Amino acid sequence: MSTAEWYLDFAERQARGTSPTYERLARAVARDDELLALLDSVPPPKRQPNLLFAVVQWLGGPVADHDLFRTFVTAHWPAVATELRSRATQTNEIGRSALVLPVLAALPQPLALIEVGASAGLNLYPDRYRYRYGDVEVGSSGPMLRCATTGLTPPTALPQVVWRAGLDLNPLDITSAADRSWLEALIWPEHEHRRERLRAAAAIATADPPRLIRGDLVDELPALVAAAPPDATRVVFHTSVLYQVPAERRAAFRTLVGSLPVHWISIEGSDVVSFPELPPAPDDGRHQNVLALDGKPLAWTEGHGQEMTWFAG
Ligand SMILES: C[S@@+](CC[C@H](N)C(=O)[O-])C[C@H]1O[C@@H](n2cnc3c(N)ncnc32)[C@H](O)[C@@H]1O
Repeated sequence: MSTAEWYLDFAERQARGTSPTYERLARAVARDDELLALLDSVPPPKRQPNLLFAVVQWLGGPVADHDLFRTFVTAHWPAVATELRSRATQTNEIGRSALVLPVLAALPQPLALIEVGASAGLNLYPDRYRYRYGDVEVGSSGPMLRCATTGLTPPTALPQVVWRAGLDLNPLDITSAADRSWLEALIWPEHEHRRERLRAAAAIATADPPRLIRGDLVDELPALVAAAPPDATRVVFHTSVLYQVPAERRAAFRTLVGSLPVHWISIEGSDVVSFPELPPAPDDGRHQNVLALDGKPLAWTEGHGQEMTWFAG
Protein backbone atom coordinates (compact mmCIF):
# COMPACT_ATOMS: atom_id res chain seq x y z
CA MET A 1 0.00 0.00 0.00
CA SER A 2 1.44 3.43 -0.89
CA THR A 3 1.54 6.15 1.77
CA ALA A 4 -1.32 8.00 0.04
CA GLU A 5 -3.41 4.79 0.01
CA TRP A 6 -2.64 4.22 3.70
CA TYR A 7 -3.93 7.70 4.59
CA LEU A 8 -7.06 7.18 2.48
CA ASP A 9 -7.66 3.78 4.09
CA PHE A 10 -7.24 5.33 7.55
CA ALA A 11 -9.72 8.08 6.63
CA GLU A 12 -12.25 5.64 5.25
CA ARG A 13 -11.99 2.65 7.59
CA GLN A 14 -10.85 4.11 10.91
CA ALA A 15 -11.60 7.84 11.20
CA ARG A 16 -14.87 8.02 9.24
CA GLY A 17 -17.83 8.26 11.56
CA THR A 18 -15.68 8.74 14.66
CA SER A 19 -13.21 11.59 14.01
CA PRO A 20 -14.20 14.07 11.27
CA THR A 21 -11.00 16.02 12.01
CA TYR A 22 -8.70 13.08 11.38
CA GLU A 23 -10.79 11.89 8.43
CA ARG A 24 -10.42 15.33 6.76
CA LEU A 25 -6.74 15.59 7.64
CA ALA A 26 -5.90 12.09 6.39
CA ARG A 27 -7.69 12.73 3.08
CA ALA A 28 -5.80 16.02 2.69
CA VAL A 29 -2.43 14.38 3.43
CA ALA A 30 -3.22 11.69 0.84
CA ARG A 31 -3.47 14.47 -1.81
CA ASP A 32 -0.44 16.44 -0.60
CA ASP A 33 2.63 15.46 -2.65
CA GLU A 34 5.02 17.48 -0.52
CA LEU A 35 3.92 15.87 2.75
CA LEU A 36 3.88 12.43 1.13
CA ALA A 37 7.48 12.91 -0.04
CA LEU A 38 8.54 13.87 3.49
CA LEU A 39 6.75 10.85 4.94
CA ASP A 40 8.37 8.56 2.41
CA SER A 41 11.76 9.57 3.79
CA VAL A 42 11.10 7.70 7.06
CA PRO A 43 10.82 3.88 7.32
CA PRO A 44 7.42 2.51 6.22
CA PRO A 45 6.00 1.69 9.70
CA LYS A 46 6.76 5.29 10.75
CA ARG A 47 4.48 6.76 8.06
CA GLN A 48 1.39 5.63 10.00
CA PRO A 49 -1.35 8.31 10.02
CA ASN A 50 -2.15 8.00 13.71
CA LEU A 51 1.54 8.27 14.61
CA LEU A 52 2.07 11.43 12.52
CA PHE A 53 -1.03 13.11 13.95
CA ALA A 54 -0.06 12.19 17.53
CA VAL A 55 3.50 13.45 17.05
CA VAL A 56 2.22 16.80 15.73
CA GLN A 57 -0.14 17.09 18.74
CA TRP A 58 2.74 16.12 21.08
CA LEU A 59 4.93 18.86 19.56
CA GLY A 60 2.13 21.39 20.09
CA GLY A 61 1.16 21.61 16.42
CA PRO A 62 -2.34 22.03 14.95
CA VAL A 63 -4.37 19.10 13.58
CA ALA A 64 -7.74 20.77 12.94
CA ASP A 65 -6.79 22.65 9.78
CA HIS A 66 -4.81 21.10 6.94
CA ASP A 67 -3.08 24.32 5.83
CA LEU A 68 -1.86 25.05 9.36
CA PHE A 69 -0.94 21.38 9.80
CA ARG A 70 1.17 21.24 6.62
CA THR A 71 2.87 24.56 7.46
CA PHE A 72 3.78 23.16 10.88
CA VAL A 73 5.00 19.81 9.54
CA THR A 74 7.13 21.30 6.78
CA ALA A 75 8.59 24.00 9.07
CA HIS A 76 9.38 21.50 11.87
CA TRP A 77 10.15 18.43 9.75
CA PRO A 78 13.47 17.53 11.48
CA ALA A 79 11.72 17.43 14.88
CA VAL A 80 8.68 15.61 13.46
CA ALA A 81 10.91 13.02 11.76
CA THR A 82 12.93 12.47 14.95
CA GLU A 83 9.76 11.79 16.95
CA LEU A 84 8.32 9.54 14.22
CA ARG A 85 11.50 7.48 14.24
CA SER A 86 11.72 7.16 18.02
CA ARG A 87 8.04 6.70 18.92
CA ALA A 88 5.34 4.16 18.14
CA THR A 89 1.59 4.19 18.55
CA GLN A 90 1.22 2.88 22.06
CA THR A 91 -2.36 4.01 22.54
CA ASN A 92 -3.52 2.49 25.82
CA GLU A 93 -7.25 2.25 25.24
CA ILE A 94 -9.17 1.14 28.31
CA GLY A 95 -12.35 0.95 26.23
CA ARG A 96 -10.91 -2.40 25.09
CA SER A 97 -11.42 -3.72 28.63
CA ALA A 98 -15.14 -3.69 27.80
CA LEU A 99 -14.42 -6.16 24.99
CA VAL A 100 -12.30 -8.51 27.11
CA LEU A 101 -14.55 -8.39 30.19
CA PRO A 102 -17.31 -10.80 29.02
CA VAL A 103 -14.68 -13.47 28.36
CA LEU A 104 -12.82 -12.86 31.62
CA ALA A 105 -16.04 -12.99 33.63
CA ALA A 106 -16.97 -16.38 32.13
CA LEU A 107 -13.65 -18.08 33.04
CA PRO A 108 -13.16 -19.98 36.33
CA GLN A 109 -12.28 -17.42 39.01
CA PRO A 110 -9.98 -16.10 40.39
CA LEU A 111 -7.76 -14.87 37.58
CA ALA A 112 -4.08 -14.08 37.08
CA LEU A 113 -3.80 -11.62 34.18
CA ILE A 114 -0.79 -11.47 31.88
CA GLU A 115 -1.02 -8.79 29.19
CA VAL A 116 1.39 -8.71 26.26
CA GLY A 117 1.88 -5.37 24.51
CA ALA A 118 0.48 -3.70 27.62
CA SER A 119 1.69 -0.14 26.88
CA ALA A 120 1.13 1.53 30.32
CA GLY A 121 -0.85 -1.47 31.61
CA LEU A 122 -4.24 0.24 31.98
CA ASN A 123 -6.12 -2.80 30.68
CA LEU A 124 -4.73 -4.83 33.59
CA TYR A 125 -7.43 -3.33 35.84
CA PRO A 126 -10.68 -4.62 34.28
CA ASP A 127 -12.03 -5.29 37.77
CA ARG A 128 -11.75 -1.61 38.71
CA TYR A 129 -13.82 -0.08 35.93
CA ARG A 130 -17.56 0.22 35.30
CA TYR A 131 -19.24 -1.06 32.16
CA ARG A 132 -22.48 -0.42 30.33
CA TYR A 133 -23.67 -2.94 27.74
CA GLY A 134 -27.00 -1.61 26.48
CA ASP A 135 -29.13 -1.38 29.63
CA VAL A 136 -26.90 -3.60 31.72
CA GLU A 137 -24.37 -2.02 34.07
CA VAL A 138 -21.52 -3.97 35.68
CA GLY A 139 -19.20 -2.62 38.40
CA SER A 140 -19.73 0.24 40.79
CA SER A 141 -16.68 2.50 40.63
CA GLY A 142 -14.05 3.81 38.25
CA PRO A 143 -14.46 5.20 34.74
CA MET A 144 -17.56 4.09 32.81
CA LEU A 145 -16.85 2.13 29.60
CA ARG A 146 -19.83 2.02 27.26
CA CYS A 147 -20.04 -0.71 24.66
CA ALA A 148 -22.91 -1.10 22.20
CA THR A 149 -23.49 -4.80 21.63
CA THR A 150 -25.32 -7.15 19.31
CA GLY A 151 -25.84 -10.78 20.30
CA LEU A 152 -23.93 -10.56 23.59
CA THR A 153 -25.28 -11.85 26.90
CA PRO A 154 -23.59 -9.26 29.13
CA PRO A 155 -21.64 -10.39 32.19
CA THR A 156 -23.38 -9.96 35.52
CA ALA A 157 -20.31 -9.53 37.72
CA LEU A 158 -16.74 -8.32 37.55
CA PRO A 159 -13.95 -10.90 37.42
CA GLN A 160 -11.88 -11.51 40.53
CA VAL A 161 -8.28 -10.60 39.70
CA VAL A 162 -5.67 -11.81 42.21
CA TRP A 163 -2.52 -11.14 40.18
CA ARG A 164 -1.68 -8.91 37.22
CA ALA A 165 1.41 -8.20 35.16
CA GLY A 166 2.29 -7.15 31.65
CA LEU A 167 5.13 -6.94 29.19
CA ASP A 168 5.93 -4.52 26.43
CA LEU A 169 8.88 -3.71 24.18
CA ASN A 170 8.67 -0.20 25.60
CA PRO A 171 6.49 -0.09 28.73
CA LEU A 172 5.10 3.37 29.47
CA ASP A 173 5.19 4.57 33.06
CA ILE A 174 1.76 5.76 34.10
CA THR A 175 3.29 7.65 37.04
CA SER A 176 5.37 9.78 34.61
CA ALA A 177 3.82 13.06 33.40
CA ALA A 178 5.73 12.79 30.10
CA ASP A 179 4.38 9.32 29.35
CA ARG A 180 0.85 10.36 30.31
CA SER A 181 1.01 13.32 27.95
CA TRP A 182 2.17 11.06 25.07
CA LEU A 183 -0.83 8.79 25.81
CA GLU A 184 -3.09 11.85 25.63
CA ALA A 185 -1.53 12.97 22.34
CA LEU A 186 -2.48 9.58 20.89
CA ILE A 187 -6.17 10.25 21.53
CA TRP A 188 -8.12 11.59 18.58
CA PRO A 189 -9.27 15.24 18.69
CA GLU A 190 -13.01 14.79 19.23
CA HIS A 191 -12.66 11.94 21.72
CA GLU A 192 -12.94 13.91 24.95
CA HIS A 193 -14.68 10.93 26.63
CA ARG A 194 -11.56 8.83 25.93
CA ARG A 195 -9.29 11.52 27.39
CA GLU A 196 -11.43 11.67 30.54
CA ARG A 197 -11.48 7.93 31.06
CA LEU A 198 -7.73 7.70 30.37
CA ARG A 199 -7.15 10.20 33.19
CA ALA A 200 -9.49 8.30 35.52
CA ALA A 201 -7.78 4.97 34.73
CA ALA A 202 -4.36 6.60 35.13
CA ALA A 203 -5.33 7.71 38.64
CA ILE A 204 -6.31 4.12 39.51
CA ALA A 205 -3.09 2.69 38.10
CA THR A 206 -0.90 5.40 39.64
CA ALA A 207 -2.21 4.46 43.09
CA ASP A 208 -1.18 0.82 42.49
CA PRO A 209 1.25 0.78 39.54
CA PRO A 210 1.24 -2.33 37.39
CA ARG A 211 4.12 -4.76 37.22
CA LEU A 212 5.45 -4.31 33.67
CA ILE A 213 8.39 -6.18 32.17
CA ARG A 214 10.37 -4.68 29.29
CA GLY A 215 10.80 -7.23 26.52
CA ASP A 216 9.49 -9.07 23.52
CA LEU A 217 6.27 -11.05 23.70
CA VAL A 218 7.86 -14.31 22.54
CA ASP A 219 11.07 -14.06 24.56
CA GLU A 220 9.60 -12.92 27.87
CA LEU A 221 6.20 -14.60 28.05
CA PRO A 222 7.21 -18.01 29.48
CA ALA A 223 8.95 -16.44 32.50
CA LEU A 224 6.01 -14.13 33.18
CA VAL A 225 3.52 -17.00 33.00
CA ALA A 226 5.75 -19.04 35.32
CA ALA A 227 5.67 -16.16 37.83
CA ALA A 228 1.85 -16.12 37.98
CA PRO A 229 0.16 -18.11 40.76
CA PRO A 230 -0.76 -21.56 39.37
CA ASP A 231 -3.87 -21.87 41.57
CA ALA A 232 -5.51 -18.97 39.69
CA THR A 233 -6.75 -19.22 36.10
CA ARG A 234 -3.84 -17.77 34.14
CA VAL A 235 -4.99 -15.63 31.23
CA VAL A 236 -2.69 -14.22 28.54
CA PHE A 237 -4.34 -11.45 26.56
CA HIS A 238 -3.49 -8.81 23.99
CA THR A 239 -5.44 -6.11 22.19
CA SER A 240 -4.27 -4.37 18.98
CA VAL A 241 -0.66 -5.51 19.38
CA LEU A 242 0.23 -8.12 16.78
CA TYR A 243 -0.11 -5.76 13.80
CA GLN A 244 3.14 -4.25 15.12
CA VAL A 245 4.87 -7.66 15.18
CA PRO A 246 6.54 -9.22 12.09
CA ALA A 247 4.63 -12.20 10.63
CA GLU A 248 7.16 -14.87 11.60
CA ARG A 249 7.23 -13.63 15.23
CA ARG A 250 3.42 -13.61 15.30
CA ALA A 251 3.46 -17.27 14.22
CA ALA A 252 6.06 -18.06 16.92
CA PHE A 253 3.91 -16.29 19.51
CA ARG A 254 0.82 -18.25 18.49
CA THR A 255 2.68 -21.56 18.80
CA LEU A 256 4.16 -20.49 22.14
CA VAL A 257 0.92 -19.35 23.74
CA GLY A 258 -0.76 -22.58 22.63
CA SER A 259 1.90 -24.56 24.49
CA LEU A 260 1.52 -22.72 27.82
CA PRO A 261 -0.90 -23.62 30.67
CA VAL A 262 -3.04 -20.53 30.07
CA HIS A 263 -6.21 -19.29 28.47
CA TRP A 264 -5.49 -16.94 25.58
CA ILE A 265 -7.66 -13.96 24.69
CA SER A 266 -6.81 -12.02 21.53
CA ILE A 267 -8.33 -8.95 19.94
CA GLU A 268 -6.58 -8.38 16.64
CA GLY A 269 -7.39 -7.77 12.97
CA SER A 270 -8.37 -10.88 11.02
CA ASP A 271 -5.45 -10.20 8.68
CA VAL A 272 -3.13 -10.45 11.69
CA VAL A 273 -4.60 -13.42 13.60
CA SER A 274 -6.39 -15.52 11.02
CA PHE A 275 -9.15 -18.08 11.51
CA PRO A 276 -10.30 -20.80 9.11
CA GLU A 277 -13.84 -19.43 9.11
CA LEU A 278 -15.41 -16.14 10.14
CA PRO A 279 -18.90 -14.77 9.59
CA PRO A 280 -19.01 -11.60 7.49
CA ALA A 281 -18.01 -8.47 9.41
CA PRO A 282 -20.72 -5.89 10.19
CA ASP A 283 -21.28 -4.19 6.89
CA ASP A 284 -20.32 -0.57 7.49
CA GLY A 285 -16.89 -0.78 5.84
CA ARG A 286 -15.02 0.18 9.00
CA HIS A 287 -12.07 -1.83 10.29
CA GLN A 288 -13.10 -4.48 12.83
CA ASN A 289 -10.98 -6.75 15.03
CA VAL A 290 -11.82 -10.29 16.09
CA LEU A 291 -12.17 -11.24 19.75
CA ALA A 292 -11.10 -14.85 20.29
CA LEU A 293 -10.63 -17.23 23.23
CA ASP A 294 -8.05 -20.00 22.87
CA GLY A 295 -8.04 -19.51 19.10
CA LYS A 296 -11.85 -19.70 18.78
CA PRO A 297 -13.37 -16.52 17.30
CA LEU A 298 -16.25 -15.05 19.32
CA ALA A 299 -17.06 -11.52 18.13
CA TRP A 300 -16.28 -8.63 15.81
CA THR A 301 -15.15 -5.59 17.77
CA GLU A 302 -14.53 -1.91 17.03
CA GLY A 303 -11.07 -0.46 17.57
CA HIS A 304 -11.59 1.53 20.76
CA GLY A 305 -14.08 -0.83 22.37
CA GLN A 306 -17.20 1.11 21.46
CA GLU A 307 -19.06 -1.77 19.76
CA MET A 308 -19.08 -5.54 19.66
CA THR A 309 -21.01 -8.01 17.50
CA TRP A 310 -21.06 -11.41 19.18
CA PHE A 311 -21.40 -14.33 16.77
CA ALA A 312 -20.25 -17.39 18.77
CA GLY A 313 -22.82 -19.72 20.27
C1 LIG B 1 -1.24 -0.11 19.85
S1 LIG B 1 -0.47 -0.46 21.38
C2 LIG B 1 -1.80 -1.27 22.23
C3 LIG B 1 -1.62 -1.22 23.72
C4 LIG B 1 -2.66 -1.98 24.53
N1 LIG B 1 -2.65 -3.38 24.19
C5 LIG B 1 -4.04 -1.42 24.34
O1 LIG B 1 -4.85 -2.03 23.61
O2 LIG B 1 -4.36 -0.39 24.93
C6 LIG B 1 0.61 -1.82 20.99
C7 LIG B 1 1.66 -2.11 22.06
O3 LIG B 1 2.34 -3.31 21.72
C8 LIG B 1 3.71 -3.17 22.03
N2 LIG B 1 4.49 -4.14 21.25
C9 LIG B 1 4.68 -4.13 19.91
N3 LIG B 1 5.47 -5.17 19.55
C10 LIG B 1 5.76 -5.85 20.69
C11 LIG B 1 6.55 -7.02 20.99
N4 LIG B 1 7.19 -7.68 20.02
N5 LIG B 1 6.63 -7.44 22.26
C12 LIG B 1 6.00 -6.75 23.26
N6 LIG B 1 5.25 -5.64 23.04
C13 LIG B 1 5.14 -5.19 21.77
C14 LIG B 1 4.00 -1.72 21.69
O4 LIG B 1 5.16 -1.25 22.34
C15 LIG B 1 2.72 -1.03 22.18
O5 LIG B 1 2.83 -0.59 23.51
